[in-house]
Amino acid sequence: MIKTVSKNIKGLHGEIVIPSDKSISHRAVMFSSIANGSCIIKNFSSGADCHSTLNLFKNLGVNIDFIDSRTLKIQSDGILTPKTSENILDCGNSGTTMRLVSGILAGKNFNSVLIGDESLSKRPMKRVIEPLTQMGAIIESNDGHAPLKITGQKLKGITYSSKIASAQVKSCILLAGLNADGKTYFSEPYLSRNHTEIMLKYLGANIEVNNDSIVISSSKLEAKDITVVGDISSAAFFISAGLIVPNSDFIIKNIGLNPTRAGIIDVVKRMGGNLEVIDKYVNAGEDVGDLRVRYTDSLKSCTIEGNDIPKLIDELPVIAVLASQANGQTVVKNAEDLRNKESDRIKCLVNELKKTGIDIEETSDGFIINGKSKIKGGVELESYHDHRLAMSFYVAGLISEKEIGINGFEWTKISFPEFEELVCELNN
Ligand code: S3P
Repeated sequence: MIKTVSKNIKGLHGEIVIPSDKSISHRAVMFSSIANGSCIIKNFSSGADCHSTLNLFKNLGVNIDFIDSRTLKIQSDGILTPKTSENILDCGNSGTTMRLVSGILAGKNFNSVLIGDESLSKRPMKRVIEPLTQMGAIIESNDGHAPLKITGQKLKGITYSSKIASAQVKSCILLAGLNADGKTYFSEPYLSRNHTEIMLKYLGANIEVNNDSIVISSSKLEAKDITVVGDISSAAFFISAGLIVPNSDFIIKNIGLNPTRAGIIDVVKRMGGNLEVIDKYVNAGEDVGDLRVRYTDSLKSCTIEGNDIPKLIDELPVIAVLASQANGQTVVKNAEDLRNKESDRIKCLVNELKKTGIDIEETSDGFIINGKSKIKGGVELESYHDHRLAMSFYVAGLISEKEIGINGFEWTKISFPEFEELVCELNN
């Protein structure tokens, strides 16, 4: 499907509520499914990725019912029971599902096969196969890619120092450690999003977070109600649009502001963007707040690197669009893992944004943007079946001289089916 976006002249105004956080929704279903008892999950994501997780646990015998479109009731005794002896489980497009679930299933007393769509089947899984194998897991793969054939085994705790700062790798190992003999110690080069640590603690796991490592040991989880906060990665498209579409001034409500996720807010401050946190509170260990975003004529460039990266890894495509409207050279480095997302997000992003008139160059571990560029448009961009590229191109379209067409816009369903509807709400 090709979506055509044209320039917004009036600016964006009003108030929107950002839907549910994808990372937290996945974890809410996974952890409640392996916990004992019954709970209600409120504000569950409507994105296809989280529904892949939900269907997977239904296929493992967990009772999951919708009370309404955003509210789930989950009832489990903590024991997973495959429906068939093959136990083929479809993770769809979702890397979070495949990597975290492999940590849960590796230590079970049954076998499983994790499959995914074309894009997921190309994404690297060695990063979880290696540590799980050290713990005693038996996993066959297609040269480090899905399908993953897991032969359930008793696992043992390990000490693992990850080379990459990845919350998916961290969560996989912690979930395996939850069901292993002995303690599992995990460390990473920079702190990645810590939703797993927060939620496991909330549900009663034996987990301790120290300055430079996390320790987990065999634990039984007790189900508790969870209200999922709004997704800052989804809010990022609106933050960026508000800063670059002239005359904009609006409020975004209910955004998760966990400091391990909120890197875009620090970057916008460094760029001199007009962004205010106007209300802040804590919900089940997660920071939440509302934001006021206003058009800013004088954004300045910045360097984004090192420990910034895990805090905004998913926001980098739309930050590229934002940086194209800042004066000076913005450099993004140490972001090589962007090449392993739903698309090669360095190559695909740079190729497509160049077509619009943005001055952007690919580097091995990021990109360099020279601003301020006029976005000329009059082109059709390829989303490469990548939801975050599709929405980033839409934001570029809002300030483009001529229309921008986006091929594959329907992939926004993966994380944010409500995206365009919310843009329209602010356009009224
Ligand atoms: C996620 C972690 C990040 C992120 C992904 C969701 C998670 O991936 O890009 O969209 O929920 O744990 P990595 O762990 O591969 O960095």
